[in-house]
Amino acid sequence: MAEAFNDKTLPAQKEARYREVADEIASVLAGEPNLTARMATVASMLASSFDHYFWTGFYVVDGEDELVVGPYQGTLGCLRIAFGRGVCGTAAAQRRTQLVEDVHAFPGHIACDSRSQSEVVVPVFDKDGELIAVFDVDSDRPAAFDETDARWLERILHETFAR
Ligand code: SME
Repeated sequence: MAEAFNDKTLPAQKEARYREVADEIASVLAGEPNLTARMATVASMLASSFDHYFWTGFYVVDGEDELVVGPYQGTLGCLRIAFGRGVCGTAAAQRRTQLVEDVHAFPGHIACDSRSQSEVVVPVFDKDGELIAVFDVDSDRPAAFDETDARWLERILHETFAR
């Protein structure tokens, strides 16, 4: 769904596109402290910039060991995920990015939408290093994400929520 804000003007090359979208996110959010507004804007701008994104959004830490769905773009997502369950719960429990080429081969994968084939989930930390959420991007294509996606998402999320 890369048609919304500036598909025509974004560079075709993935790395260059991430760089430009990262700059645009920072410029749109400058001066806006509200966390929901920041999360909603990140989800919207990334979802509308990349064709391989199918479901894009946040699961926010709620209590000791649970995630609850936050701002997202896509089909209906499941509401709550326990730490350790599925790809999102694993990213939260391990506090590490999960790059999954084939979701069907991932133990305990939660199929909110059966069209999801691959995904990347990045932990989101605040400026004190506390885990506040995970950012989940699913694709309806197999092996849609690589290290470029993972590293740029980590960078964008760090710059948006840990500074
Ligand atoms: N893919 C996730 C579940 C959330 S949704 O797909 C929106 C997982 O297995 O953690």
